[in-house]
Amino acid sequence: MRWWDLDRVIGLEHDLFPDDAWSRGMFWSELADARHPAATRTYLVAEATEGRIVGYAGLAAVAGTGDVQTIAVARDHWGTGLGARLLGALLQAATDAECHEVLLEVRVDNPRAQRLYERFGFEPIGFRKGYYQPGNVDALVMRRADPAQNIDNG
Ligand SMILES: CC(C)(COP(=O)(O)OP(=O)(O)OC[C@H]1O[C@@H](n2cnc3c(N)ncnc32)[C@H](O)[C@@H]1OP(=O)(O)O)[C@@H](O)C(=O)NCCC(=O)NCCS
Repeated sequence: MRWWDLDRVIGLEHDLFPDDAWSRGMFWSELADARHPAATRTYLVAEATEGRIVGYAGLAAVAGTGDVQTIAVARDHWGTGLGARLLGALLQAATDAECHEVLLEVRVDNPRAQRLYERFGFEPIGFRKGYYQPGNVDALVMRRADPAQNIDNG
């Protein structure tokens, strides 16, 4: 993901996260910490053949722990395996950054994303009460140990 992708990324962001979309400034600040020698962020976009951005994902890797910052797929591409490809790419980035674990937060009312993470070996480790605002929705915290380990992810 580069700055010139942001108009298209933010369009998708508002469609997919209507209640708590990231602002342009949040994406800028994430991208500012990508693509330099000491970068802690890895941000990817998936482009369809006609050049449309149909997915994106980001990882933070700090002191051996990876964090899935975001992952999103355009609605008309759901169920095609793109979410799995993006998550696989983030786990590869975590492996390259020598992370020994990867964490993420997911809304408790988002079973589709939870199933994707479970397929990749993420396990629930706790809750963050009222993590998502507005709406006061709890986050389920999930963890995958050893992202370098090859597992069957369907
Ligand atoms: C969560 C999200 C990223 C998943 O993306 P996706 O591209 O639909 O994910 P996948 O296609 O890899 O897997 C999803 C389902 O499609 C199925 N699937 C995967 N490839 C398939 C294929 N080739 N044919 C048919 N089904 C397929 C999977 O088995 C899976 O089914 P299940 O989870 O119901 O068992 C997407 O739904 C999304 O962007 N949601 C809104 C944003 C969001 O919630 N992000 C997560 C925030 S924590």
